[in-house]
Amino acid sequence: MPYTVPKLTDFTPSALDSAVRELLSALDQESAAVGSENDWKAFRDRWMARKTGILTQINDLWLKAAPGPNKRDVGQRVNELRKTVEGMVEVAQKKALFAQLPTVEVGGELSVPAKDFDAFEKDFRAALILKQKIDVTLPGIRRPIGAEHPVIKTMNEIIGVFRNLGYSVEEGPEIETDYYNFEALNFPPNHPARDTQDTLFIAGQESKPLRDRLLLRTHTSPVQIRTMQKMRPPVRVVCPGKVHRNDAPDATHSPIFHQVEGLAVDTNITFCDLKGTLDHAMKALFGSSVKTRFYPSFFPFTEPSADVQISCIFCDGKGTRDGAPCRNCKATGWIELLGCGMVDPNVYGFVDYDATKVSGFAFGMGVERIAILKYGVDDIQLFFQGDVRFLEQFG
Ligand code: PHE
Repeated sequence: MPYTVPKLTDFTPSALDSAVRELLSALDQESAAVGSENDWKAFRDRWMARKTGILTQINDLWLKAAPGPNKRDVGQRVNELRKTVEGMVEVAQKKALFAQLPTVEVGGELSVPAKDFDAFEKDFRAALILKQKIDVTLPGIRRPIGAEHPVIKTMNEIIGVFRNLGYSVEEGPEIETDYYNFEALNFPPNHPARDTQDTLFIAGQESKPLRDRLLLRTHTSPVQIRTMQKMRPPVRVVCPGKVHRNDAPDATHSPIFHQVEGLAVDTNITFCDLKGTLDHAMKALFGSSVKTRFYPSFFPFTEPSADVQISCIFCDGKGTRDGAPCRNCKATGWIELLGCGMVDPNVYGFVDYDATKVSGFAFGMGVERIAILKYGVDDIQLFFQGDVRFLEQFG
């Protein structure tokens, strides 16, 4: 039977003594039964809750009910009981905490909490000290600081290859004007070459002249123009960054992706320099056994232009794998990877370079495409979904 506070009618000292004794023995028993933090909370509330706790009840049922002459005696006893209950609740809390301490043994054993409170306090302190002791021989806690995103990682690898060749890095805005994204790159207004870019235009700019209208840059090539406007030859830069095209997302397309552009302008730069540079870069990125081939192509800002293909890294350029046609290169043995060419003399006209004195090459590659090949990723969307299980594999 749990203890309930009796209504007192007899307020003589001996009757009070026995009521107090009964209450204290209940308090002892209940505090001894506290074994966990939850037990302790229930114990505390049963005795100390402001509206219904036992302390409030003795206040109401004993003190308030006491006739005038007994009030002083009852008041003293109630005050003492209050102190005792508060002390017991505090000790019970320590006991509950103590029970939760892991039983570490560092140079000694923990003893079971002693019954009397002084010894118990000592045990408790000793256990706390043990708990707080630092064992310097334990391995450290490693903070998960995350991993470099595979797209950024690949971008940095590409940049590293060109840094080693003496290139520096330039960046430009992701929101561009028609002038930098198209006109200065020799895409005349209404030229069909613009259709190849699936451009996302910013709405409501019809009142501006065409060249000032804003769009999401479709390639990093406008950074070529910005670089040549502020630097005189010799120029050797790579321009990494985010680009946008109006493409529906699927396994190989994303409206957001990344490119690394390259530009080298100097005197006497030839197509041989372009071939040698990109052949080296592809070997540095995919391994020294990779071969490159240059296939005629078209870009308005380069002439001649080429698409660069690398020998298929999945079938070693054979076109077949385990006796079956290689799916990665559609059995051709080659994978198309980037666009390039010699800078069109018309472009120099837009940046005040003397086309009769300088020559140069440019190239642009898709970072996700390279990451997909390097890491064997089968869906470009994985790069943009933020799934930790995918991303942490690159850590
Ligand atoms: N900007 C071109 C594209 O995005 C790639 C390219 C860059 C081609 C530089 C030639 C020279 O398609």
